[in-house]
Amino acid sequence: MATAALVLLLAVAPAPAIAMDFSDKDLASEDSLWALYESWRAEHTVSRNLGEKASRFDVFKKNVRLIHEFNLGDEPYKLRLNRFGDMTADEFSRVYASSRAFHGDRRSDSFMHGSAPAASSLPSSVDWRKKGAVTGVKDQGQCGSCWAFSTVAAIEGINAIRTKKLISLSEQQLVDCTASNWGCSGGWMDTAFQYIATGCGIASEAAYPYTAQQAPTCNTCVRRLVKIDGYQDVPANNETALQVAVAAQPVSVVVDASGFQFYSEGVFAGECGTSTNHAVTAVGYGTTVDGTQYWILKNSWGLGWGEKGYIRIKRNVEDNRGLCGIAQVASYPVKTSPNTKQDVHDEL
Ligand SMILES: *[C@@H]1O[C@H](CO)[C@@H](O)[C@H](O)[C@H]1NC(C)=O
Repeated sequence: MATAALVLLLAVAPAPAIAMDFSDKDLASEDSLWALYESWRAEHTVSRNLGEKASRFDVFKKNVRLIHEFNLGDEPYKLRLNRFGDMTADEFSRVYASSRAFHGDRRSDSFMHGSAPAASSLPSSVDWRKKGAVTGVKDQGQCGSCWAFSTVAAIEGINAIRTKKLISLSEQQLVDCTASNWGCSGGWMDTAFQYIATGCGIASEAAYPYTAQQAPTCNTCVRRLVKIDGYQDVPANNETALQVAVAAQPVSVVVDASGFQFYSEGVFAGECGTSTNHAVTAVGYGTTVDGTQYWILKNSWGLGWGEKGYIRIKRNVEDNRGLCGIAQVASYPVKTSPNTKQDVHDEL
């Protein structure tokens, strides 16, 4: 159970920035690569059995070379050796980018944000992290619960905007209790929003902490805390509509994350398709000094991945589905009701 314990630790304590730099020298020989692999293993507490180690080393070598070659090129973003270093692309996709939730039909296509600025008067950049509406980066571990992290980050955002209090909320409650989702095998954010709106709200992270496993029982309504009133879907395949929504609050989105394995920094510009398989939360947008427009996405793969847990991906691409399909299935929670005093008092 070392893996579960590690995941729990990462979810509770701020994780160290786990990523390794390496140089040409490390790639020079089989011996230097093996030494690099050993120090990578030590840093990542990977508990592979010994029989597997040789084949893992082969995968590791391929990945290290791929990262090295890529970074020598002239791409607008960089890759880095991170904890996914000895996983093949297929394996990575199976565990971290395979949510089965995102292939069905959605319920509604109505759009609210009556009070949002018109598309023509949107701010040129928005970063909800700077406005105190985004909690620290979390880690889903080896559990396909990205949908719960996406849901929770969007609710943490609107709760902070409405109440001026940033409170970390419980992904585990959603994993355990959202009966029409599939726990660690995927789920819909809209279903989760609906569950929270029609049930008794969502508990704090502290009251209902993350375990990266679906529990056989559900502790819903114990120490409820934050309420929402419903949710809205952003009109599909329109990055301007998504921008209107993100200007108003953090928004749940889905992407094809199969190209995200070793993303390190910069504005990601592909490779990816539009078959969405991973949920994240859009917490802002902006434009680089050289004019590249991007989305800021909060991921749930810990602080060691990407830009301290975040990725910037290219915005306003030619394909109206957005890069990696980001404009296809976006939604956000609606909150008008206050949290009850008693509930807040319980937690603070
Ligand atoms: C996209 O959304 C914007 C903002 O809501 C809207 O003004 C525009 O008409 C939409 N475009 C299409 C093609 O629907």
